[in-house]
Amino acid sequence: MCGIVGYIGFNEATPFLVDGMSKLEYRGYDSAGIAVFDGKRINIEKCVGRLDRLRDKIGAHVPTGTIGIGHTRWATHGRPSDQNSHPHADASGKFAVVHNGIIENYLVIKEDLIAKGHVFLSETDTEVVVHLMAELYNGDFEQTVKKVLKIIEGSYSLVFMCADAPDKLICTKKDNPLVIGLGEGENFIASDIPAIINYTRKNYILSDGEFAVVTKDSVWVEDRDGVPISKKVFEVYWDAEAAEKGGYDHFMLKEIYEQPQAVRATMSSRIAKDESTTIFNELNWVKDDLDNIKKIFIIACGTAYHAGIVGKYYIEQIAKIPVEVDIASEFRYRKPLVDESTLTIVISQSGETSDTLAALKEAKRLGARTLAVTNVVGSSIAREADQVIYTYAGPEIAVASTKAYTTQLAVMLMLAIYMGNIKNVLSSERSKELVHALHILPEQLDELLKDVTNIKEHAYRYKEAKDMFFLGRSLDYAVALEGSLKLKEISYIHAEAYAAGELKHGTLALIVEGVAVIVLATQHDVYEKTLSNIKEVKARDAEVLGIALAGDDSISKYVDHTIFIPKADKYTAPILSVLPLQIFAYYAAVARECDVDKPRNLAKSVTVE
Ligand code: M6R
Repeated sequence: MCGIVGYIGFNEATPFLVDGMSKLEYRGYDSAGIAVFDGKRINIEKCVGRLDRLRDKIGAHVPTGTIGIGHTRWATHGRPSDQNSHPHADASGKFAVVHNGIIENYLVIKEDLIAKGHVFLSETDTEVVVHLMAELYNGDFEQTVKKVLKIIEGSYSLVFMCADAPDKLICTKKDNPLVIGLGEGENFIASDIPAIINYTRKNYILSDGEFAVVTKDSVWVEDRDGVPISKKVFEVYWDAEAAEKGGYDHFMLKEIYEQPQAVRATMSSRIAKDESTTIFNELNWVKDDLDNIKKIFIIACGTAYHAGIVGKYYIEQIAKIPVEVDIASEFRYRKPLVDESTLTIVISQSGETSDTLAALKEAKRLGARTLAVTNVVGSSIAREADQVIYTYAGPEIAVASTKAYTTQLAVMLMLAIYMGNIKNVLSSERSKELVHALHILPEQLDELLKDVTNIKEHAYRYKEAKDMFFLGRSLDYAVALEGSLKLKEISYIHAEAYAAGELKHGTLALIVEGVAVIVLATQHDVYEKTLSNIKEVKARDAEVLGIALAGDDSISKYVDHTIFIPKADKYTAPILSVLPLQIFAYYAAVARECDVDKPRNLAKSVTVE
């Protein structure tokens, strides 16, 4: 996720570009840059770090000109650095481009362009776009962009400028947002409305495949087949602060709704075209690499630890390697039996969690191979580990983790399939089934989010609850842990999660009339056992809310209320069943008037022991 802006009009471009980018920093903030045409050439100013660093760098020498583009970056390909910052330009300086998304086939294109003599200055996927422009340019800016779009694959929103055509910007999008703000004698482009809301309230929201030529007085839009479109003007009534949250009341809710896209981005380029397996080019493992691994430790904190527990089920069951999951703050002091035959996987959204970083260092010291799963490119954990898999969730602002968790689960499942196939312990039929289950997951997440009224009503109904219990077996238990953490962290309702079969060993004493119990029942192999546990709590007059797969006709006979999730494979079910729990926690917190995005006593990134 990155933020992009563009301006063309009668005013100086730079003030708008910098101001617009400041409203998009929630989309990324590891580097920033602008490109402005001064009448003769395109001048680019960019640097690693927050926007303030760019402001300082520009100082009094603000690039002048009335057409420009800008970018605030959240690194995916290539660590945060001056060279990897956008905009990118070709060698002649004729073209400049800003990009949000991932060009999946960039390596093939890059090799081809290098063979043709192009010299690349960055490690980014984006730079191929601008070199392709230079390679294919025949004097016609628009036609050249169209040729480039035929070659690149992946997800993107892109804004192009060309020194030969200083009266227009060209933009397009696929699977990433882009809006065009309509002014008088000036027009604006941005990844999101907050960047332009102070300049205009009239917008065109671009759809996938649409191609727009923006001048100061006009906006020409075509569909993917080149047919002109008359776009409907979308008028924004929100205030600037609400706009930053995309019209959502809180970042947490926005991030919940971003999950289909975050999971899609994390999986893109990691699923083989024939859907037979998953691919991790960043690992490039062969059978020997895995035969040497006798045991895996997964280490993390909080929500990431819960993702690790799901990961244990995936890896043990699919790749047949024994896994231990450790809380990072425990691992470092418990004298774990780790050696060269151990692979340590650390999971961390921020990549900066102090306990996780220290555990990673300890595992390395003991001789383990290390792999990090993190959302932040170039973070301390990413730098410390031998290898890294990035989740592409984009910045997570709310303290309560949501999209980081679901993308971590997607990575762990893809990793288990990858390992299972390399080790030859996964049948090709089951591998295909699992990859297909992943492939349809973003649509299922979308479907689930379409109507959450039912979940919201339950949350409001339980808002006065003093205690809540979350139960499940197997993978449902792992998700119950996350549901319980979500609820207590933002609504301050006391919540506990239990393996459903464990309740009778003590905790059942707390189940009395009216106590609220949420039971997950999505796992077929333990379904009957879960029903028995539901009967146990119902016999003590608990009020039970069940989470079950669509098409489950039995569950309603046993519980008081049910929330259905789309029918799914047992391994993708956790990535779906956690959503109702996130939404439940969110609305319970709203109903209790809690500070959802900044719960008391907590911080987003815990960099102290
Ligand atoms: O950045 P990390 O994933 O390493 O953070 C770990 C935990 O602090 C984090 O998951 C925390 O539990 C969340 N705020 C829970 O929503």
